[in-house]
Amino acid sequence: MGRVTLTGTFAARMVVAVFASGVAGFLLAAPAGAQNVGGGAEQGAPPQFGFGRAATAEEIAAWDIDVTPDGTGLPEGEGTAASGAPVYARQCAVCHGASGEGSIADRLVGYTPETTPPFGPRYEEWRGDGPDVPYSVGNYWPYATTLFDYIRRAMPSNAPGTLEADQVYGLVAWILAENGLIAADETMNATTLPAVEMPARDIFVPQER
Ligand code: HEC
Repeated sequence: MGRVTLTGTFAARMVVAVFASGVAGFLLAAPAGAQNVGGGAEQGAPPQFGFGRAATAEEIAAWDIDVTPDGTGLPEGEGTAASGAPVYARQCAVCHGASGEGSIADRLVGYTPETTPPFGPRYEEWRGDGPDVPYSVGNYWPYATTLFDYIRRAMPSNAPGTLEADQVYGLVAWILAENGLIAADETMNATTLPAVEMPARDIFVPQER
């Protein structure tokens, strides 16, 4: 960022830094009075702060992609474990292991224990003196729809936001099938995915705060 030189009194000039794409920096000088900055109660809130611009509908749409537990927000498209497998091998296996067993990033497959979540007193009893069982989306995520939401917005972590809806449905189907939670040939789409009941669904209790 360049040097900022203020000319005139502080009241006469206002300097606003605008960062474009987080790379280049521009300095805009606006004459005093152009904005209602720092106004008292009698002046009311300023309509704008003198920098930035309204987000475009396209920009908002790019961020407005959340999918809720009941599947609201799921886009059109579909996929199966078979369509997801090659995408997984190409874009996910390097970090999550060839079979989802985990590597430098989390394990994605591993539904065991089937009768309890992988934590808590029931689990301790189930495990006894046996080895600890790792968490996976299969044994502790309460909603299958979260897989779609999370993978679409955050994965692959080196290129988030690059997957098409069909690819995400395929990846979700692959992960669910590998966890034994859907049949290998089941199609995942906006109707079938919310209907998948995750084993951990009832171990989370909503808390009013
Ligand atoms: C460059 C490494 C990398 C790649 C490639 C990658 N991931 Fe991940 N993934 C991560 C990391 C790191 C986390 C943990 C992120 C965190 O906890 O904030 C993660 C977390 C996840 C989780 C959540 C796991 C949990 O139990 O919370 C899922 C699901 C997931 N990734 C799916 C995928 C899928 C599907 C792909 C392929 C499209 C993929 N990832 C590609 C690194 C990667």
